[in-house]
Amino acid sequence: MEVEFARLRRFDAFSKPLEDFRVKTCGGAIVTAVSGVLMMVLFVSELHYYMSKEIRSELYVDPSRGQKLRIEVDLEFPHLPCMLLSVDVMDISGEEQTDVLNNLERTHLRPFNQQQGSFAPTANADNIDVEVQPTLDPNRCESCYGAEMEETQCCNTCQAVHDAYRQRRWALRDLETVAQCQREGFVMTINEQKTWGCRITGHLLVNKVSGNFHFAPGKSHDRSHIHVHDVNTFGITKFNTSHRIYHLSFGSSFPGAVFPLDNTTTVAEADSMMFQYFVKVVPTVFVDLEGQVVHTNQFSVTKHSRSVSTSAVTPGIQHGRDGLPGVFVLYDPSAIVVRLTETRRGFRHFLTSVCSIIGGVFTVAGLLDSCLYHSVRSLQHKLELGKVS
Ligand SMILES: *[C@@H]1O[C@H](CO)[C@@H](O)[C@H](O)[C@H]1NC(C)=O
Ligand SMILES: *[C@@H]1O[C@H](CO)[C@@H](O)[C@H](O)[C@H]1NC(C)=O
Repeated sequence: MEVEFARLRRFDAFSKPLEDFRVKTCGGAIVTAVSGVLMMVLFVSELHYYMSKEIRSELYVDPSRGQKLRIEVDLEFPHLPCMLLSVDVMDISGEEQTDVLNNLERTHLRPFNQQQGSFAPTANADNIDVEVQPTLDPNRCESCYGAEMEETQCCNTCQAVHDAYRQRRWALRDLETVAQCQREGFVMTINEQKTWGCRITGHLLVNKVSGNFHFAPGKSHDRSHIHVHDVNTFGITKFNTSHRIYHLSFGSSFPGAVFPLDNTTTVAEADSMMFQYFVKVVPTVFVDLEGQVVHTNQFSVTKHSRSVSTSAVTPGIQHGRDGLPGVFVLYDPSAIVVRLTETRRGFRHFLTSVCSIIGGVFTVAGLLDSCLYHSVRSLQHKLELGKVS
């Protein structure tokens, strides 16, 4: 039996010196304490790293087609009334959505203290309808002021005249000469709301191709294939296009998502400024630990602004070619998809790291300690020799 153990003992890689030959020193105690603390710190940081989630990213060419882009918007114009602002979407496929109203909510911002320039939101702007007086004959047929498409067309409200003009792609200049508008107090409403602001909240659905959407004063229409905003209708020629973007995104959020335009305020130093945001939309697929997939988009943005002269070629009519006052977002979807996958870090890797921390610190401390011990010993030795001679 003794012989068996003796054989086994030969394989011990950790041969032990006899206790009698060991000395404990103060220096050794200090090195032990310091290395203990170091080990603890390194272990905690390694544990923290192990507990955190790893995000792996990969790129590939977008295989999807015919998808829609959902654009979430929430922005505020403190100096442009809602009745003036129109929202249009245009893309290179030729699709156009003019004066988008569904899915977008407009809130009036009425200055209650002009000096302080503070605003109070009032009722939903789309609910403030111009009242039609009840004494009117319901079977009446009023003139469309030359804009009727057929003989029998009637324009019984100011809005109807407006729509008829837009259908004809004409600009309705003098509202005061239109009896319907005078009767409905449209002009008065404009004068009252001139100093109000507007906040637009909601979402837009667009094709996943390059395009733009813009918030600009004046109703838009096409005039010989040029996008035109008719701004003179309201008799206002100067626009302060200062705006604050509360939120702008091209899809839902995911952990770690960054929206570069959120909570940004832009002040227009000059009248009728045109602000352009050039947005590169990067389709993103996010897969979390539970395997839930979020299809969304990230984006990067560059900004450009310039002053547009309102007294351009035709007074009051703003041509798309010369630029329009307002906020334009020009988006361009990328063909490359980023796929972000959340994963846990490997336990084996963690175990290896912990072992190497303990072993490494222990070895280095041992080296340091023996250096310290020997140099102190040799110093003592020399001092003793010095004393003797
Ligand atoms: C923007 O402001 C809102 C409200 O103050 C806040 O909840 C949100 O986290 C902010 N967003 C950014 C990107 O700072
Ligand atoms: C537009 O309004 C902002 C305040 O929101 C102001 O600082 C700026 O000077 C105004 N711009 C012009 C041209 O009046």
